[in-house]
Amino acid sequence: VKAAVFASGTGSNFDVIMNTEDLACEITLLVCDNPEAQVIQKANKYGVAVFVFNPKDYPSKKAYEQQIVKKLQEAGISWIFLAGYMRIAGPVLLGAFENKIVNIHPSLLPAFPGKDAIGQAFKAGVKITGVTVHFIDEGIDTGPIIAQVPVTVLTGDTETELKERIQKTEHQLYPKVINQLIQAK
Ligand code: GRF
Repeated sequence: VKAAVFASGTGSNFDVIMNTEDLACEITLLVCDNPEAQVIQKANKYGVAVFVFNPKDYPSKKAYEQQIVKKLQEAGISWIFLAGYMRIAGPVLLGAFENKIVNIHPSLLPAFPGKDAIGQAFKAGVKITGVTVHFIDEGIDTGPIIAQVPVTVLTGDTETELKERIQKTEHQLYPKVINQLIQAK
């Protein structure tokens, strides 16, 4: 089973997925919308092919998603795992990979969707936040929830400390859920 990771940032989740020894799929493609992203160096290190695109080079979202779908199909990809990909999927991508696109988000959705979910939760003063893995749809961090793990906000926590615990939780959860999804198919 071949899978792609879509990421535009640091790539800590990508790193953890790549280092999971019993991963039920092979990550053979990284899709990235930012040529400066650190995750590209990580992909190069692992010998994973990279498709970097600049949305501004395309006339429309439809056009760049058609190009992405072409790359995915050429590579024989059957699953897509988003890890810090900051774009909303459109009908072209969603239609080509129905129920095969999964995202990880650093809050207990439907609370705190969108950008800076950890900062949003911290500022709201909640005592419990967490991590969600979900199928994506046309919304922002909406779509059927697959798994959630709570993370407690401790008294005296700084936002940085909370972020570290949430990321650690993400790194434990994502490879497990990826394996469960692929093995259930
Ligand atoms: C993660 O917190 C993920 O939940 C969110 O984007 C972040 C990506 O982090 N969607 P990294 O690039 O994997 O370190």
